[in-house]
Amino acid sequence: MACANFTVIGLQWGDEGKGKVVDRLAEASRYVVRYCGGANAGHTIVVGGQRFALHLIPCGILRPSTVNVIGNGVVFDPPVAMEEITRLRARGVSVGPENLLISRTAHLVMPWHKAEDAASEQALGDAKIGTTARGIGPCYADKARRSTAIRAEDLLDAAALTEKIRTIGQRKNTLLAALYGAEPLNLNAIAEQYATLGREFAPMIADTGGLLRKANAAGKRILFEGGQGSMLDIDHGTYPFVTSSSVTACGVPAGAGVPPSAVGRVVGLVKAYTTRVGSGPFPTEQDNETGNYIRQRGREYGTTTGRPRRCGWLDLFAVRYTADLSDVAEVALALLDVLGGLKEVRICTGYRVAGRCVEAFDPTLLGVAEPVYETLAGWEAELGQCRTFADLPDAARRYVDRVEAILGRPVGVIGVGPEREQMIAHHTEVPELAELR
Ligand code: IMP
Repeated sequence: MACANFTVIGLQWGDEGKGKVVDRLAEASRYVVRYCGGANAGHTIVVGGQRFALHLIPCGILRPSTVNVIGNGVVFDPPVAMEEITRLRARGVSVGPENLLISRTAHLVMPWHKAEDAASEQALGDAKIGTTARGIGPCYADKARRSTAIRAEDLLDAAALTEKIRTIGQRKNTLLAALYGAEPLNLNAIAEQYATLGREFAPMIADTGGLLRKANAAGKRILFEGGQGSMLDIDHGTYPFVTSSSVTACGVPAGAGVPPSAVGRVVGLVKAYTTRVGSGPFPTEQDNETGNYIRQRGREYGTTTGRPRRCGWLDLFAVRYTADLSDVAEVALALLDVLGGLKEVRICTGYRVAGRCVEAFDPTLLGVAEPVYETLAGWEAELGQCRTFADLPDAARRYVDRVEAILGRPVGVIGVGPEREQMIAHHTEVPELAELR
């Protein structure tokens, strides 16, 4: 039997609008699973004019029949998760062990991770990574170090947890003071806070890998929800200006505890232009009027940090690489409406380094690469009301055709606005997305 699962990932530097596609596919899925990253992610969904910004909780939480899973590959931040749950509950969304489960082997983000993230960035000055300051990198570093790690299962035993927080916390306080002159963290207060949160989360902590393998074997549909974007992948992105986890579809099996065959159909999200938050190379960046225009129209400010995002033209040379990496079956082209009103639009189809065209994409080249552009005519019309491909102006249709031709992959759906229904079904083979047609 063919695997009916889906994996939805971003093919650029994050913020591609994954939330909206995940939300649609969640309707037809029993499980929605986060497998990478943590509260650095920011997924926005607009339902009935209400805007929901989610960081840690999977997007399926807005669907009543979906079980949401925070996989072992995620770094789980209990206070942030509780804040998010409280906000959801206040807006009438029910959250409990019946619809939210946390892997017992997910690692916990602790206050010292955030302190280190912020202090280390400050110390790096101009060389900083531009992190979200959510403690993501230091938490994954402790996961790899092992002796200073704390996992979700530790929340189940308050006495052992308190002991761990005291011993590990003392070491962290010493290090933070020595390296950055930081004030010591109040370990008693942290132990108390985490013990309280532990009691709240205890019913949700489970062997999620085992559960998902069983569900998968029984043919229940699973949707894997990627965080960040493939160019931020720890191994395959623009290192060191990346995040600290495996965010491509290759990260699904390890980060969720399922076999590779469970990845299913991979849908890759691509914005009709490119954005990036934080430092690092960005060959098609438009640090000019065009970039400002895109930022304003696309409301390109970080969901997690509020930082203005760097904006530029669509880099399909990079996207072809990330699409190959995850063997993307179809692309969802998001935010096409944002480009409306520009006289001409550009697509990067390759790079030139030292005057010569580069044959194969290589993320280590980005710092010295000059983009090679194809220039197309722009369009004036607003696209927010378009519901079929035929409704789009000629120039916008040509833009989509070029994306497909250059990528060599079908554009399944096209986003023309933030609302659930502002999506055009194009060449998708996913029945739930084709319904839009
Ligand atoms: P960290 O994940 O907080 O360590 O940040 C590392 C890099 O990834 C920085 O450039 C962040 O701006 C970027 N980043 C992390 N999460 C996201 C995301 O969800 N969207 C866009 N950029 C992100």
